[in-house]
Amino acid sequence: MIHRNDLCWCQSGKKWKKCHFPETPPLTNGDPLRLKELYDKKYQILIKSKEQIDGIREACRISSTILEAVAKSAVAGVTTKALDDMSTALHREAKAIPAALNYSYPPFPKGICTSLNEVICHGIPDDTILKDGDILNIDIASIYKGYYGDCSRMVVIGKTTPERQLVVDVAYECLMRAIAILKPGVQVGDIGTVIENYADERGCSVVRQFVAHGVGVKFHENPQVPHFRNSNLIRLVPGMTFTIEPMINAGAWEAVIDTRDKWTARTIDGKASAQWEHTILITEDGHEVLTTWQR
Ligand code: MF3
Ligand code: CO
Repeated sequence: MIHRNDLCWCQSGKKWKKCHFPETPPLTNGDPLRLKELYDKKYQILIKSKEQIDGIREACRISSTILEAVAKSAVAGVTTKALDDMSTALHREAKAIPAALNYSYPPFPKGICTSLNEVICHGIPDDTILKDGDILNIDIASIYKGYYGDCSRMVVIGKTTPERQLVVDVAYECLMRAIAILKPGVQVGDIGTVIENYADERGCSVVRQFVAHGVGVKFHENPQVPHFRNSNLIRLVPGMTFTIEPMINAGAWEAVIDTRDKWTARTIDGKASAQWEHTILITEDGHEVLTTWQR
């Protein structure tokens, strides 16, 4: 139990008696409506209702099913543009919309991201032909009935180099280790600790310019979820939906954005980068991975 002179649980730095007293910490007051209001007011984090969760789950199922189909077609000789075309057709069949298309400014010109080798993220599908030894991230976010699902995975074309295989494997393990700790009460900063500790152990670096994010009702919601060590003390609570999408580099962590297209982010040293992404729901007793792709 919290005492009057303890620091307030809301992270204000003030004593409880001068702050939220007599309101007890959100994880123990057991009132989901007060928790939702508190997370909205303090962090602008949207705690989803059961109905919203069902919608987000559908959107996630669609985005990850399309991702699996597109990934199967990513073989030597195919262009990244052909993968985008396939995703467009599958979205149309599912009555869904590719969320990347026209997103932000300058508007993203395609419906998916295809990030090859030293490209960290936000690669634009084009006439590039996949070849043996390439590693490719395919990132697909879908809008279905107003809800968003966001996921990505790597594809290794044929047999690749040890450096490229390393980042593919390390990024996957980072994602799996991060997901494994997710449950109510865990702090956002704990995610970055797990990921960067493992990347360090394997001699890889963690990209800092791009972070994971709340998702579901909008494409990018709060909280921002860094994949590197950080001191974000916000606690996960049931009904939060967000991505984890670690970008892991073989060399330096820095990303350089293409000055012409303003999107393509490459490693500063030209070394390999890899990323895998799931959308996850925090449940009463743990988590549920909403996107269904499997390695
Ligand atoms: N998963 C990526 C993200 O959350 C998807 C980017 S789509 C783009 O940023 F349109 F922003 F490129
Ligand atoms: Co994302």
